[in-house]
Amino acid sequence: MTATLLFMNTILPSVSDKSIVMIGLMGAGKSSIGRRLADALDLEFVDTDDEIVKAAGCSIADIFEIYGEQAFRDLEERVIERLIHEPRRVIATGGGAYMHPDTRERIDETTVTVWLRADLDILVERTGRRGGRPLLEQGDPREILKSLIDKRYPVYAGADIVIDTSPDGHDITVQQIVSALQEYIKAST
Ligand code: S3P
Repeated sequence: MTATLLFMNTILPSVSDKSIVMIGLMGAGKSSIGRRLADALDLEFVDTDDEIVKAAGCSIADIFEIYGEQAFRDLEERVIERLIHEPRRVIATGGGAYMHPDTRERIDETTVTVWLRADLDILVERTGRRGGRPLLEQGDPREILKSLIDKRYPVYAGADIVIDTSPDGHDITVQQIVSALQEYIKAST
């Protein structure tokens, strides 16, 4: 058995039953990398934005437009509270979720957090590929992302694990997360 397989099949399940929560800004790759990470660790994957859409019965853009951002944040808080108490999974959160102090406290208490840090150019490029992000429609996306970096990165820095997203592709980033999880678990046992 390779070291990674041994870690995934034996060590990870026996020492940690915590979910792994992906945090980071829009465009950092939380969902696509989180999905691949879940596959690599043989865990289920869930995305909080998808769960919010299911609960509300309409898109995130519609929730913002019809009910306002606060209604979205309330739903987000409730959905995350439910997900972190369910059996262990990889959970991708929306970029604002970890900024809510109560939600952050509960996430920190019950899960292992992974911040996917990405620089401004990467975020601008990736968010430009897919719409449906109401916050970026309120002005110049680069300016908005820049101010979100200033505001949120100091808070995201409280994550258990910090990974710079690799420009060389998601598979490399997943490998880096698996190695960092190994280190994290070794250090906490
Ligand atoms: C938001 C990020 C979005 C979504 C909503 C608000 C934010 O999720 O939750 O549009 O406040 O950063 P992604 O980070 O998955 O794009």
